[in-house]
Amino acid sequence: MRTRTLGRSGFEVSEIGLGCWQLGNDFGALTEQQSTEILNASTEAGIQFLDTADVYGGGLSEERLGKWLKHAAQRPLIATKVGRDGNLYPDGYTREKVKANIAGSAKRLGVEALDLVQLHCVPENVLYDGDLLSWMEDFQQEGLIRAFGASVEMIDQALFCLKHPKLTSLQILFNVFRQDACESLLPAADAADVGIIVRLPLASGLLSGKMRKDQQFEAGDHRHYNRDGAAFHVGETFNGLPFETGVALAEQLQDELDTSLTLQQVALRWILDQPQVSTIIAGASRAEQVRANAAVSDLPALGEEQHVFLRDFYYTQVREHIRGGI
Ligand SMILES: NC(=O)c1ccc[n+]([C@@H]2O[C@H](COP(=O)([O-])OP(=O)(O)OC[C@H]3O[C@@H](n4cnc5c(N)ncnc54)[C@H](OP(=O)(O)O)[C@@H]3O)[C@@H](O)[C@H]2O)c1
Repeated sequence: MRTRTLGRSGFEVSEIGLGCWQLGNDFGALTEQQSTEILNASTEAGIQFLDTADVYGGGLSEERLGKWLKHAAQRPLIATKVGRDGNLYPDGYTREKVKANIAGSAKRLGVEALDLVQLHCVPENVLYDGDLLSWMEDFQQEGLIRAFGASVEMIDQALFCLKHPKLTSLQILFNVFRQDACESLLPAADAADVGIIVRLPLASGLLSGKMRKDQQFEAGDHRHYNRDGAAFHVGETFNGLPFETGVALAEQLQDELDTSLTLQQVALRWILDQPQVSTIIAGASRAEQVRANAAVSDLPALGEEQHVFLRDFYYTQVREHIRGGI
C-alpha cells in the first residue's frame, strides 16, 4: 500500500482508506463480527486512514471503531465529522454544542484528541457564515482535535473552504461518474496545500459493476430510502444518478472499456492517477471488498488513451444525468 501526505497536516495516509458509514448499518445491517472482520481486513491490507461520522448509525460506527481500536494491531488515523446531528442541523449551530458533539465523538472513539474532524455537509449559509471554521481552529488550538477539514457537496463550497489558512483537508464527491473537480478544484487544493479525501469512489457501488436494474436494497439502506433524495441531498446516493440510469451507464462503460481490469479497479485507479488526491475512502460491507479495494494501490496507472476515453465518456454520457448540482 502506497501512502501520500494529507495536505498541510503532514499526516501520512494510505492511498486507499476505509469509509465506515457501512459500520453504522446504513448499507444494510452488519453483525459485530462482520464489522470487526472489515476493520481487521483494513489493517492487514495496509489501510491507515478511516473515515466515520458522529451520525453514522446514530454513533454506532464510532462506537464499533472505538471498541475495535482497543485491540487493534495498529492504530490508524481516524477522521470523523460533525454538523449533521439533529441538535445542530440545520440551524442550531453554537460553539458550545459543536464542541460537545466533538467531545462525544472522542468518547465513542476512546481517544483524547481526534485526529481529524471534518464539517459534515453543513448548510451552505452556515458554512459561508464562517463561524464554524473559526471554531474548528479554536478547537485545534485547545488540543481537542489535531486537524480539521470539511466535507462538502459542491465545488464552490470546496473552493470557499480552501481560503481558510488552517484547513487540512477537503472531502469531496469524485469518481469516474463525477469528474469536474479535475478542472479547477484539484489544482487549487494542491496550490493551497489542502489534502483531498475522495468519497463515493464507486458511486455507492454502481462502479463496482455488479449492480442490476432490478436490484433491491434493505429498508435501512440509504440506497433504498434516499434513492431519489428523500432523506438527504440527492447528489449523494448513487452520486446523484437515477439508479436505472446509473446501472445502464456502468454496464455501457464496462462493455466499451478496453482493459483487462475490472470496473472497480479502473474506477479506483482513475482516482489515484490524479496526483492531487490524498486518499480514497472506499466504503465496504464485506472484508473481501476491503482487500480488493486496497489492492488497487499496487496497480500501475491507467494509460493516456484510457484517461481520454473515461473523460469523454463522462462528459458525453454521464454528466447531464447528475441531479442536485456539481
Ligand atoms: N457527506 C459525507 O461526508 C459523506 C457522504 C457519503 C459517504 N461518505 C464517506 O465516504 C465513504 C465512501 O462512500 P460510500 O461508501 O457511500 O460509497 P462507495 O465507496 O462509492 O461505495 C461503497 C459500496 O460499494 C460496494 N463495494 C465497495 N467495494 C467493492 C468491491 N471491491 N467490489 C464490489 N462492490 C464493492 C459496496 O456495496 P454493497 O454494500 O452493496 O456490497 C459498498 O457498500 C463512506 O463510507 C463514508 O465514510 C461521506
